[in-house]
Amino acid sequence: MKIKIKKAKIENLNLIQKLNYEVFEASLSYDKHLDMSWPFNEKGIKYFKEALISKDYCCLLAYDGNFPVGYLIGTERNFSYRKNKVGEIDNMGVTKKYRGKGVGTALINEFKKWCQKRGLTQLRVSTYFKYDKAINFYKKQGLKEMDLVLEGEI
Ligand SMILES: CC(C)(COP(=O)(O)OP(=O)(O)OC[C@H]1O[C@@H](n2cnc3c(N)ncnc32)[C@H](O)[C@@H]1OP(=O)(O)O)[C@@H](O)C(=O)NCCC(=O)NCCS
Repeated sequence: MKIKIKKAKIENLNLIQKLNYEVFEASLSYDKHLDMSWPFNEKGIKYFKEALISKDYCCLLAYDGNFPVGYLIGTERNFSYRKNKVGEIDNMGVTKKYRGKGVGTALINEFKKWCQKRGLTQLRVSTYFKYDKAINFYKKQGLKEMDLVLEGEI
């Protein structure tokens, strides 16, 4: 298997939506409020279109030959009260059959290059607190736990 990473284009919108839906399927057991229609609804389409067109976003697709197997969407996201420059992974996913074969790592490595070209020094991502598989994956990419979001009923 030889994985190729390419810049995603607006023509790839539907492909990205389908891959993102698989991320939602994998995430549903960690978030009962997840809107499963989002990847294909108006709000989701608006987000993906903007990301695919904007120079401020990095949208990548991973292919095994001509077959799309994964994607990553990232951008620069800084906080005015912090001194570092950060590239954040908004969402990423690898299609089920291809997980655990190095595709996610290849996508992250390409995003790191994009970040470095823009002078960003840190990589950031949010995931669910109990999503051990994703947390282990990101730790293997050199990331460490940093902040914690708490949510509850009012
Ligand atoms: C998390 C994810 C993006 C990682 O991509 P990947 O191509 O499977 O990861 P790689 O093969 O590059 O790295 C493998 C490592 O990731 C971890 N991992 C995470 N999910 C895994 C899975 N489903 N299968 C195997 N390894 C997985 C393991 O720690 C593994 O390390 P190991 O091979 O030493 O055991 C991918 O598994 C996925 O899309 N999962 C479902 C959706 C998701 O979790 N998206 C991100 C959360 S916001």
